[in-house]
Amino acid sequence: MDKIENKHIYLLGFMGCGKSTLGRKLANILDMPFVDTDILVEVKVGMTVSTIFEMLGEAKFRELELEVLAELASDGKIAKVVALGGGTPTLENVWPLLQNSGTTIYLQRTAEQLYDHVRHTDHRPVLKRAERKDLLQHVQNLLHARTPYYARANHTFICDDDWGIDETIERLLKLIEENHENN
Ligand code: S3P
Repeated sequence: MDKIENKHIYLLGFMGCGKSTLGRKLANILDMPFVDTDILVEVKVGMTVSTIFEMLGEAKFRELELEVLAELASDGKIAKVVALGGGTPTLENVWPLLQNSGTTIYLQRTAEQLYDHVRHTDHRPVLKRAERKDLLQHVQNLLHARTPYYARANHTFICDDDWGIDETIERLLKLIEENHENN
């Protein structure tokens, strides 16, 4: 197991798994800054993620994602809690950056749970590629294709919708503390 102290904590997983919501809370409790790579990209180019996909294309968005991540990874002075985009772990060259600068935690949920979390949102261009009626199938296919990348994380944290946010945070903190004690 690798060390969490003085390193970024990267939260990764599929869209709707709770990276930003949990990350913000976790950062608050751990007294660490929180950043979301989607927001860093948006600030960098002055456009929303949807507009970047529309105007500049997905490939450009992926390039920008990698750029902000490389900047984060090389700035190790202040350890942060970082929520990655759902597609970030699938990018070539991203894993050495993550592994050298922090600990990665995969927030795992089933396709059905994820579908439930994203079905009423409309700000994610990758999900707009499917008709509403085919959305669950689209989530299943994409999750299946991405799981081998997500599984590279140092830790897999299986989220249970029955826990609610406070219990989920408690369990995540326990995972982080246990890992910290083991170092
Ligand atoms: C994407 C996930 C989004 C965002 C972009 C692409 C993906 O982030 O990076 O829309 O390919 O899964 P969230 O996982 O925070 O929604």
